Amino acid sequence: MHGKVSQMPCGPIRLFHLSDIHFGLEDRRAIAWAKECIEGERPDAVAITGDLTMRARSREFKAACEWITALDVPVTVEVGNHDIPYFNLYQRFFAPYRRFRAIESLVESQLDLPNLAIVPLRTTTRAQYQRFPWSNGWVTERALAHCLEAIDAQPEGTRVLVAAHHPLTERRERDNKLLTINGTKTMEALAGRKVMAILSGHIHDPFDLVAQTSAGPLRMVGAGTLSRRIRSTPPSFNEIIIDGDDLRVEARNLEHVATPAMQIPEVPENALPPREPGDPVSPVGTVPSVDPPVN
Ligand SMILES: [Fe+2]
Ligand SMILES: [Fe+2]
Repeated sequence: MHGKVSQMPCGPIRLFHLSDIHFGLEDRRAIAWAKECIEGERPDAVAITGDLTMRARSREFKAACEWITALDVPVTVEVGNHDIPYFNLYQRFFAPYRRFRAIESLVESQLDLPNLAIVPLRTTTRAQYQRFPWSNGWVTERALAHCLEAIDAQPEGTRVLVAAHHPLTERRERDNKLLTINGTKTMEALAGRKVMAILSGHIHDPFDLVAQTSAGPLRMVGAGTLSRRIRSTPPSFNEIIIDGDDLRVEARNLEHVATPAMQIPEVPENALPPREPGDPVSPVGTVPSVDPPVN
């Protein structure tokens, strides 16, 4: 298991895109199955788009790091809003990534696959002066510059995927509510650079949408959750096949629900189950009758 990749045979590339495992509230059956799939099928890489833990507790990180280090394939890990210390404010502000030590080299690491780079984009912040709570995304100027610099450093013709925790949608369609700060500007910059797709988590339902930006279209691929905090779909992960300029997504799940029935039609505010009229619900509609615990 490592964060960088050496030469591999050319041809289609297969990625497993996992998200929101939320150790502490993980779905044990789902993570055992995901691990079995990784071990048995050996994808070219695994991208985990954040929320490894529930409350960033040391014991949750220990379980997450053990699970991830046992994967014998290249892995990149994004930081989710649940992965920043919640109870220990000193650590939250001064050493927010200390608990990732065991997988340090994988966190926000770029993966270089044959003619394809997976470039990280940080969307999680320690605090947001614009609002409270701080669970939604913010692409700071620094985070955006860092990501664009990495994209611009790629050799001509390299295909690029960007991995982030939060979807980049800046405003909720229904009422214009602010979701990811600087999301629109970031999407324009990525679309202008012909990024193949932005991979994200946070929502706990999968999606595969195209955002129209002033710089052209941008594909947005969200992975579901492998935790018990389900929103409107059973636990799942995305299998992504990149074949030339083609990118195909399958939302794999233990219930054998077909991908079109798993994917939500727009980006909601958060991972809470749809309760209000107008909240997007997946066609399979596996909405829990009570909201999942947030301990
Ligand atoms: Fe989450
Ligand atoms: Fe999240």
